[in-house]
Amino acid sequence: MSLPPVIAIDGPTASGKGTVASLVAQQLGFHYLDSGALYRLVALASEKHGIEVKNGPELGLLVPKLLISFKNSQIFLDGEDVSEAIRTENIGLRASALAIHPEVRLALVDLQHSFRQFPGLVADGRDMASVIFPDAVLKVFLTATASARAERRYKQLIAKGISAKLEDLLQDLQERDARDSSRGAAPLMIADGAKVLETSDLSIDQAVREVLDWYQSAIT
Ligand code: DC
Repeated sequence: MSLPPVIAIDGPTASGKGTVASLVAQQLGFHYLDSGALYRLVALASEKHGIEVKNGPELGLLVPKLLISFKNSQIFLDGEDVSEAIRTENIGLRASALAIHPEVRLALVDLQHSFRQFPGLVADGRDMASVIFPDAVLKVFLTATASARAERRYKQLIAKGISAKLEDLLQDLQERDARDSSRGAAPLMIADGAKVLETSDLSIDQAVREVLDWYQSAIT
């Protein structure tokens, strides 16, 4: 029997891929994998365990010891709801720093594959199309200009009552883009056969519709 279909959506930080991917999953009744959340969980756990981000081997050994579970949109680490705690800028930067290690990436492969279940999966991240699900039926590279992304992030934080400075956010995301794109292990890139979706001037609905249309074309 063939494997469940996968839609892989990769892109830089704050490109809106998480929102678009989860809505596409909802529309199709598919499962959803937010792979960035896994790197963020490792970032949070390593901070708690006092493991430095440059220590790839120890971080790789930490991963199988973590008790990770997803319930609806909540994420639990060792029984604690960390859905909010993993979303800070600090944890995002830490996740980007430790994601350069092949030991960490390798330790997370099986967990990511386990999300591939019927009727299908929408997976978002940096290497979904290139490394984790190279046989994805549809590969999308979702992006937007750095300033559009910084502005979106700014609005999200302000809406949550978290104070933020636009210039700092722009600088953080440019730093993260540079590191995610230049690392040796599974760098952020446009995979072979991926369709690029530039969302700077698109609404969420328009982006979701485009991905759904592409998926329909891919399977017919
Ligand atoms: O998508 P995000 O901002 O939640 O991801 C946080 C960091 O995790 C990102 O800066 C790089 C890393 N990451 C990765 O290396 N590979 C993935 N598939 C997903 C995220």
